[in-house]
Amino acid sequence: MTIKVAILGFGTVGEGVWETLHTHHEYIQKKLSTPIEITSILVKDSNKKRNLPDSVQVTTDIEEVFQQPVDVVLEAIVGKQPAYQYVTRAIEHGAHVITANKEMFAHYGPHLLELAKEHNVWIGYEATTAGGTPVIRTIDQMLQVNQIKSIQGIVNGTSNYILTQMTKHQNSFEDALLAAQQKGYAEADPSNDVDGYDAFYKAMILSQLAYQDQPNWDEVYLEGIRTISSQDIDKATIQGQKWKHVATIELRHGAPRASIQPMQLNEDHPLYNIDGVENALSIQTDLLGSITLSGPGAGKLPTASAMIEDLLYVFQKERQQEAQYV
Ligand code: NDP
Ligand code: HSE
Repeated sequence: MTIKVAILGFGTVGEGVWETLHTHHEYIQKKLSTPIEITSILVKDSNKKRNLPDSVQVTTDIEEVFQQPVDVVLEAIVGKQPAYQYVTRAIEHGAHVITANKEMFAHYGPHLLELAKEHNVWIGYEATTAGGTPVIRTIDQMLQVNQIKSIQGIVNGTSNYILTQMTKHQNSFEDALLAAQQKGYAEADPSNDVDGYDAFYKAMILSQLAYQDQPNWDEVYLEGIRTISSQDIDKATIQGQKWKHVATIELRHGAPRASIQPMQLNEDHPLYNIDGVENALSIQTDLLGSITLSGPGAGKLPTASAMIEDLLYVFQKERQQEAQYV
């Protein structure tokens, strides 16, 4: 048997997935005891030049993707539509879904998880939040016995990169944003990063995971980093503080609440030393107390790593279940 993979989107992340499936081909095959075949790649613009062999089917038509058997869809396109429609199609086709698309998943995650259960397939969304840092699986594991009181996190790599460049190298906001775009950290529309929407979507995904619910979106305080001037940065430095873009999710009177905003942090704050594209979550739980997870928050290979971890997870789980019935 061969595992048939379709990749939706061939930008920074999709290309990273393609590359990693090739560079780590032998390792992955050995882990799964099965070869992997990339059956098709879905893109928006069929005229763009791509670094792909002619043998790969590149299409702009989702129906072409499902004209053949597909076991898993790796979705790395932008925005909630048509991504939602495509992953729904994948689930109904009987394929597992692995997504990096936090905007789509913040909107439709709960419904998609239900739909996946009905169709006996699995959805992996590790790559939606904190890039390559395995926060989703770790929190899921902690929730086996812990109750989460609150999460404070730096969850947008681009904003953290910009604030760090402005603090450490006195770069302008514009230069730092351009560098983040060139490095593949920023969203297709970078206002999603610097105006806080990307962090907002991630906070909603974390809330759903931690509390099986999201705050009312209209009640979430949301502010990006555009308001932070170089004078603000200098003032904070003189006071021994740093500006960070912080998402807070907590349970108040039994309901989840969230805010996303720039904050001046003291040196003793667990997020103070999280610099550059790094993301981190400082999680308070009833049994563990405080735990901080940190690592690469964006970029081609870290994000591909999260998606391929999900891929290995689902097929290893499937193999174990099959073995139980033999
Ligand atoms: P890019 O803009 O680099 O690539 C997007 C890809 O999606 C392109 O190949 C584009 O096609 C394709 N695409 C866009 N719209 C459609 C559509 N309507 N139908 C078919 N294909 C479409 O984005 P990234 O790779 O950076 O990000 C992809 C997803 O992963 C986003 O949801 C993002 O939020 C998420 N993500 C990104 C991370 C990062 O570090 N960059 C990290 C974690 C998650 P074409 O090539 O033809 O333009
Ligand atoms: N644009 C996002 C960021 C990508 O900078 O964090 C990772 O989700």
